[in-house]
Amino acid sequence: MKIHARTERILLRDWDASDLDDYAKIIADPDVMAHIGDGKPRPRSNAESFIATALGHQATRGWTPFAVEHVQTGSLMGFCGMDDKIGRLDFGWRYSKEFWGAGYGYEAAAAALWVSQNTFSLTHITSQSYPENAGSIRIMEKMGMVQIGEGAEFGRPLVVYGFKNEWPDGLLA
Ligand SMILES: CC(C)(COP(=O)(O)OP(=O)(O)OC[C@H]1O[C@@H](n2cnc3c(N)ncnc32)[C@H](O)[C@@H]1OP(=O)(O)O)[C@@H](O)C(=O)NCCC(=O)NCCS
Repeated sequence: MKIHARTERILLRDWDASDLDDYAKIIADPDVMAHIGDGKPRPRSNAESFIATALGHQATRGWTPFAVEHVQTGSLMGFCGMDDKIGRLDFGWRYSKEFWGAGYGYEAAAAALWVSQNTFSLTHITSQSYPENAGSIRIMEKMGMVQIGEGAEFGRPLVVYGFKNEWPDGLLA
């Protein structure tokens, strides 16, 4: 299995079909999904289609939101990386609750950003969040991203972040 980056505590790696049960458990947790999309937990079928898409992208272009693995235990923590299903590069992250609040989110994001820019030459990265998701927005800020636009989803406002040098006039210019 391809490993894209390794820190002391985490691996960013390709997905494997055997990740299905663990990923399905993560997205079945209402707390994990509270600030994503319609805010509702997702069924196993959603995990199946997510992993099928990820396996396809790994085999073709090489990148997809990477699986994040906990080095010490070998557990699947969640994902971190780029998706393009909204028509631009959307940098996102999602972890099982047991791993929150210990710096993993930023650690994985910094590693995923490096790989995305240096291995896959991706540019014009954006990241979006509901404004109340303070942890997610803080990760963007710690990577040096600034607000470049706004939007809305499911009747809720969204903030969109990016790197100033890539979006000098903001998202909609
Ligand atoms: C959002 C999420 C990725 C944060 O991951 P994490 O591993 O807890 O984040 P970190 O521990 O690396 O913290 C990063 C920064 O955010 C801050 N932070 C984390 N959670 C926070 C919270 N709930 N409220 C305020 N600040 C928070 C941390 O203090 C840290 O800032 P600091 O270094 O200045 O102290 C995680 O909570 C998660 O997976 N949530 C569910 C999925 C989700 O909402 N994804 C994003 C959708 S836009």
